[in-house]
Amino acid sequence: MWVITPINVSTTFRYNEDPNTLTAIADLPNGYPEGEFVYSRLSHPNSEKVEAVFDKILGGHSVVYSSGLGAFNGLITHFNPNQVAFGQCYHGVHAILDIQTRNRGLKQLSLNEEDLEKLQPGDLIHIETPVNPFGTSYDLKYFAEKAHSKGALLSVDATFAPPPLQDPFKFGADIIMHSATKYFGGHSDLLAGVLAVKSKDVKRRLVDDRIYLGTNIANLESYLLLRSLRSFDLRILKQSSNALKVVTFLNENKHRFKSLVKIHHSSLQTEPYVKEQLSNGYGPVFAINVDSEETAKHLPSKLKYFHHATSLGGVESLIEWRAITDPYVEKTLLRVSIGTEDPQDLIEDLDQAFSSLSRD
Ligand SMILES: Cc1ncc(COP(=O)(O)O)c(C=O)c1O
Repeated sequence: MWVITPINVSTTFRYNEDPNTLTAIADLPNGYPEGEFVYSRLSHPNSEKVEAVFDKILGGHSVVYSSGLGAFNGLITHFNPNQVAFGQCYHGVHAILDIQTRNRGLKQLSLNEEDLEKLQPGDLIHIETPVNPFGTSYDLKYFAEKAHSKGALLSVDATFAPPPLQDPFKFGADIIMHSATKYFGGHSDLLAGVLAVKSKDVKRRLVDDRIYLGTNIANLESYLLLRSLRSFDLRILKQSSNALKVVTFLNENKHRFKSLVKIHHSSLQTEPYVKEQLSNGYGPVFAINVDSEETAKHLPSKLKYFHHATSLGGVESLIEWRAITDPYVEKTLLRVSIGTEDPQDLIEDLDQAFSSLSRD
């Protein structure tokens, strides 16, 4: 038997050789059972294996997708809310909600008290925490209580702080979503998404939808994701502890760096819920505001250990002038994703970059 799960690229699977075991799909009200493979858009050996691993990591019934946005589409398609309340979150999530508004009149609400009062049974509050691009946290218990008092559901995009950093089910979430492209993938070489729900029946219905949305995880990606999940908790804990060291350094040395205006990160928030939610460490992404758009464009070119690129969660540190991809942010904002490098190298790199900006 193998140690490493083999790459399996078959899109189609031979039926059982024994004619007596064959059943017509019309006679299978719950679809094909797990472990019975027909065509890889439905499921395949490595997609089911990934789901079994995610069940353990996320503590629910997991459904994997071809991307994080594929997962959000699956969520919105299945739960089909008339109204969604959401705040700051990934710009692609805004775009999906805009499509729903365009096509079927979905009502978009903010997270303020007045809007939350308008929620009806079957509606959704969607919270991203820690939030993209700032890495700051929202109070999950508060939003879970608000949602449930109205008969609505709480979905949580927890991409920025996967377990063991944070478990949204503990604070009342009904659905957890992750872009597995980020920390679960961890090597900037695969796209995937995952939803975790509390009921096996809901999982089955999400899988039924996924078949016809055509958004199952691809064969090669699921192999890469299984590889990544083997080292997942080593990476996330190291990235979290590195990020805390880097943020602490910047915060303590802010007075030396003329161009550094503001640092955003959960570790700098003082509300008690932040530490309760992130009891095993803060997320490895933070953001900074600098003194001008010019500085924001130039800072990445002065760093040698940070690639100037979008995305996050990989073992390599990234920095991004966020306005390149996110239409909703200030042009002075940079997002930083901390990797697994020696934190002292990252600190010295940021120190020399900010110091050289002060001299320019
Ligand atoms: C918080 C968050 N959610 C969802 C997504 C979308 O994930 P994907 O790119 O895997 O579709 C991203 C991507 O950056 C993200 O940062």
